[in-house]
Amino acid sequence: MTETLNALLAKAEAELPTLRTRPEFEAAKARYVGPNGELTALMKRMGSLPKEERPAFGKLVNEAKARLQAQMEGALERLGAAEIAARLGPPVDPTLPSPDPEAGTFHPLTLVREEMCRILRKVGFAVADGPEVETEFYCFDALNTPADHPARDAQDTFYFPETTRFGNVVRKNPGEKYLLRTHTSSVQVRTMLKGEPPIRIVSPGRVYRRDTTDATHSANFHQLECLYVDRGVTVRDLKALLDYIFASLLGPGTKTRFRPHYFGYTEPSFEVDLSASHLPKVNKEWIEIGGCGLVDPSVFSAVGYDASVWSGYAFGMGLERLAMLLYGIDDIRAFYQNDLRFLRQFRR
Ligand code: DAH
Repeated sequence: MTETLNALLAKAEAELPTLRTRPEFEAAKARYVGPNGELTALMKRMGSLPKEERPAFGKLVNEAKARLQAQMEGALERLGAAEIAARLGPPVDPTLPSPDPEAGTFHPLTLVREEMCRILRKVGFAVADGPEVETEFYCFDALNTPADHPARDAQDTFYFPETTRFGNVVRKNPGEKYLLRTHTSSVQVRTMLKGEPPIRIVSPGRVYRRDTTDATHSANFHQLECLYVDRGVTVRDLKALLDYIFASLLGPGTKTRFRPHYFGYTEPSFEVDLSASHLPKVNKEWIEIGGCGLVDPSVFSAVGYDASVWSGYAFGMGLERLAMLLYGIDDIRAFYQNDLRFLRQFRR
């Protein structure tokens, strides 16, 4: 019986390190130490040995069992490690250069936004930011837009339910409704409330309107707002700045023209048209690009500035419209579809 035991041990010690899977391991374990296993059978046969041989044999069996146990634990550990390695896949070296040789590109709206900010920084404008979730005060009231103005209609503006709270957007008046800003002009108000003139800011950002999407409309789009507040600011300053920025962005052949208009927050107010016939796909002589004017005294009162001392100009324009002109894009939806064939065409 001792020989059988030794043969059994030798066999197990040769087999256990070669097992490749858990089912193989479980089958081997059952064959050696399971209820019908070979070692179990040997132990059962111990009773048939003469009494005096039993203790010595019992000791041998216990030793064999301990060795088998250790072997099996070793095999299990090896199988576990192999499973983890299989899940991790082949080894990677994260310090190697990327296999993709192409660098990313900037979105055309990013390119136009950054270029406009660069052009404006050169003449002293600082970039200002404001929240996309706004309150009625910053988006409308402080901009002299009365409660019954059509722009405030729920058909045009996205309002949040009365119960919605935004802890990080402070309301000016209790009970004010939250909304998605319909223009970047709200940043004018936030900036003026924060400090004293002179002020020279540019604020690009996303705005929202309840528009049905088509080739020239999108429920969210981007604007760029400028505000200048100082002493003795005139329409001439405004016109000169607009001429400068559009010639810088679109080329020296670019002209601007003002058409009288009405905005509650400027007086006088104008719509700005561009003429840039040197650009591809510009087939109209004049293209409307934004609104502007001299800051209305009521806006200065709303932010606590003395309108007899301070004057200023403001303008706002759509970034999509500008990018469409500059790059000859004829459908606004192309900006939002993440189609790489479109996006890869734009490089700085
Ligand atoms: N907020 C206007 C719009 O979204 C554009 C605009 C007009 C901005 C006149 C201005 C301004 O700053 O003075 O259509």
